[in-house]
Amino acid sequence: MDVSDIAKLLGLAAGGVGLAGAVSWAKASLRSAKTSESSAADADALTAALAESYERVAQFEHILSRANDEKRDLWRFWPAAPPRGLSKPEGEGAPRIVSFVNLKGGVGKSTLAANLAAHFALARGMKVLLMDLDYQGSVSNTVLPAVRRDAPTTNIREWFADDRDPVRILGELEDIGGALPGSALAASSYDLAPFEQRLWLRWILGETEDDVRFRLAQTLWSDHALRRFDLVFLDVPPRMTLTAVNALCASTHFIVPTLLDRTSTQPIEFMLRQFQTLFWGLGGGPRCAGVVANLTKLEPYLLDGEESRRLEIVETLRQYESRAKIFERHVPHREDIAESAGLGFAYHRSERARAIFDRLGDEIAEALFGAEGARVASDAPHDADNAATRH
Ligand SMILES: Nc1ncnc2c1ncn2[C@@H]1O[C@H](COP(=O)(O)OP(=O)(O)OP(=O)(O)O)[C@@H](O)[C@H]1O
Ligand SMILES: [Mg+2]
Repeated sequence: MDVSDIAKLLGLAAGGVGLAGAVSWAKASLRSAKTSESSAADADALTAALAESYERVAQFEHILSRANDEKRDLWRFWPAAPPRGLSKPEGEGAPRIVSFVNLKGGVGKSTLAANLAAHFALARGMKVLLMDLDYQGSVSNTVLPAVRRDAPTTNIREWFADDRDPVRILGELEDIGGALPGSALAASSYDLAPFEQRLWLRWILGETEDDVRFRLAQTLWSDHALRRFDLVFLDVPPRMTLTAVNALCASTHFIVPTLLDRTSTQPIEFMLRQFQTLFWGLGGGPRCAGVVANLTKLEPYLLDGEESRRLEIVETLRQYESRAKIFERHVPHREDIAESAGLGFAYHRSERARAIFDRLGDEIAEALFGAEGARVASDAPHDADNAATRH
């Protein structure tokens, strides 16, 4: 057994044969090495290498059998290890970190995250960090045109990289102050998808040093972020991806946009149940601030069918999230909102849309900051009228 044999061993392990095949080949080589005088010295080195390989195989077999257990949620594969020395912001004056989430697609997560960010920045003078965690980039594509930019210069991938540095990440955010004063955007693009799949796989295999579910929290809970922003809005993809799980682990609250049609109540119930299991053992998870009905048919009333769906959701919330409510202000299907996608904030482009998001924003502010906190936060608004006409 010499260097070239060890190289062959590693090659076999990395190739189709897998570690188990490589070890049985190495065992056979060891038997023949022990019988030959000249190879006896190499046998000790090989025995040590074999012991290590055995350990690796045992570890991989253990991982494989756990992964094959259908009852196991792969997002709870390893025990939680939140970042040391940091904790989720809490208390009256603390920033709120809010995920817009629904595992059902096309319900208005991105639209509401962007336009409510505009409400909090312009009507309440808050510094908002708007984060696009979906590789589709809906929020990025809508917000960048508002500051006359076509493409982002940064990528949300940096937040999840092994060599991430919170100070550098926060220093490189997209400046959207021209549209929302004091606010910033963390943009995403399609290359996020393969990146997050690979990182998830490495974590399952025990190949990362940290708990990758808390990489976003590591930057968002840092002093730098908490001092700079009053509010963080996270646009979460409609799938339990690495970024979605990170968003939920980092968030203080979540908001559920939904339609009021026949297919929408069950996904909410499924999601709330899934969150309960996921966050049992993961530090509690975020609190549901409430549900927003979007794309309703008529303004300002609900049709009978929509009202029935609303009551079903109220019932679901009572079971799973007793403090959460469905907000009074629903968002109707409006052409000015649809047409703004990819062009800028509807909040800037339509007075009527702005009135809807302001009214909804008032309710959400109260759910996030309490009645008193919401009032204080609205004392120093930017000039929303002027900002609206500028865009
Ligand atoms: N109130 C509304 N009036 C008109 N169009 C709307 C409204 N809300 C959302 N839309 C449009 O509906 C589509 C889906 O909205 P959006 O992208 O915000 O949903 P989403 O939940 O983020 O979707 P996904 O699950 O794919 O991320 C978009 O084309 C958007 O412009
Ligand atoms: Mg979206």
